[in-house]
Amino acid sequence: MSGHNVWTHKGTFLLAAVGSAVGLGNLWRFPYLVGEYGGGAFILVYALTIFAVGIPILIAEIMLGRTSRQSPIMGMRHLTKTHHTSRTWESIGWLGALAAFLILSFYSVIAGWAIHYTWLMLTGSLVGADAQTISDGFALLLSSPGLMTVYHTLFIAGSGLIVALGIHTGIESALRIMMPALFIILLIVLAYSVIHGDIAAAADFLLTFNLASLSIEGWLQAMGQSFFTLSLGMGAIMAYGAYMTSEVSLTRTAIAIAIIDTLVAMVAGLAIFALVFGAGLDIAQGPGLMFVTLPLAFAEMPMGALVGGVFFILVLGAAISSSISLIEPVAAYLVERFDMTRPQAVAVIVIATWAVGLLTVVSFNIWAEGTFFHAIWGRSAFELIELLTNVLMPLSGLMIALFAGWALTQTEVKKELDTTAMWFAMWRFLVRFISPAAVAYVLLRSLPFMDG
Ligand code: PHE
Ligand code: NA
Repeated sequence: MSGHNVWTHKGTFLLAAVGSAVGLGNLWRFPYLVGEYGGGAFILVYALTIFAVGIPILIAEIMLGRTSRQSPIMGMRHLTKTHHTSRTWESIGWLGALAAFLILSFYSVIAGWAIHYTWLMLTGSLVGADAQTISDGFALLLSSPGLMTVYHTLFIAGSGLIVALGIHTGIESALRIMMPALFIILLIVLAYSVIHGDIAAAADFLLTFNLASLSIEGWLQAMGQSFFTLSLGMGAIMAYGAYMTSEVSLTRTAIAIAIIDTLVAMVAGLAIFALVFGAGLDIAQGPGLMFVTLPLAFAEMPMGALVGGVFFILVLGAAISSSISLIEPVAAYLVERFDMTRPQAVAVIVIATWAVGLLTVVSFNIWAEGTFFHAIWGRSAFELIELLTNVLMPLSGLMIALFAGWALTQTEVKKELDTTAMWFAMWRFLVRFISPAAVAYVLLRSLPFMDG
């Protein structure tokens, strides 16, 4: 069975998991959420949920993958059988697959915007452009379903190609080149922002904790973001964990993933805010922060076209290394369950997510605000899909915590988590009580907000 594949090197799981974790969530979503939901206060809540919820569930999810050695759906079926637990737990695999599918559909569209901006930057088209020109340009992109579909198609096809080549020739080789390059680019952008931006203002904004400025929606967004950024609850980490060799320390790897992911988000936030503050622009721009405000900042700075182009290549690379981890769990499932070849399985997924992605494409034009779709649902299809994934991820995370904390026995779990008694006790306490309680609380509190 293909589930017996393992990564070539000890460190490959960490490489792959960091590739999955570091993505649009760090470079695009984290900075704009921080800008919208009150800076440091948001970061504080986000850090708390990463520690008390994110890391324990990350450990649990890797563990489920590594013990089952199969795709999330088949793996959960296998685990419920061998541990004689309720079949309800199988829904972890299905919820994850559904969430992965939905996320991939919009992730690809947004990553497509980055293709557009890489091109604009490197050709120097935006040099010296004013705010009006740049925001008109973004509006023009959003109003062109055809152009957006072209980029969306390119991105999803490229990601699919990597996964179709297999976990060694495709995923491993791609990550081995891409990930080091991404870290170097991030440092270049940071250095550039220190020289040309207002790094003091950025640091001040990120580190001023004013909890009173955080709404309940902010709490929900922080929790959703901590799942999204660590790739939790979507089977991505479970699928990669299935290929992880048993000698590697699971706990240490999980903590490393969380630290690296958080550092990348903070560095990206610092660099982006430094450039935006330095250019005297408004940070509370929502999703447009990266595509309007940042290009504007680059347009006015020396060598901005080049550094901006390199920055958008970073965004693209980070997005691809994440999207392949969203394709992998479902691809592995189709291969195991229906005996498809890998390329066939990938083709099915790519075509299906491509089609659903068109809903996100039209959310910005044909079905935007003021159209019948918006009138019926009160929001765009993209916003609905995002909202749905913001619920699905915590829900599946909640079930992972409960399954690992309560359905599996302590002895079974101890085998995989070769750590000190103290760390083990701490993990078990968090995963049994704190993480489920926190997730359930935020999910419940978010219900009134959902229909508002
Ligand atoms: N963690 C990725 C990011 O921060 C998004 C992602 C979610 C990737 C789930 C894979 C699975 O952008
Ligand atoms: Na991330």
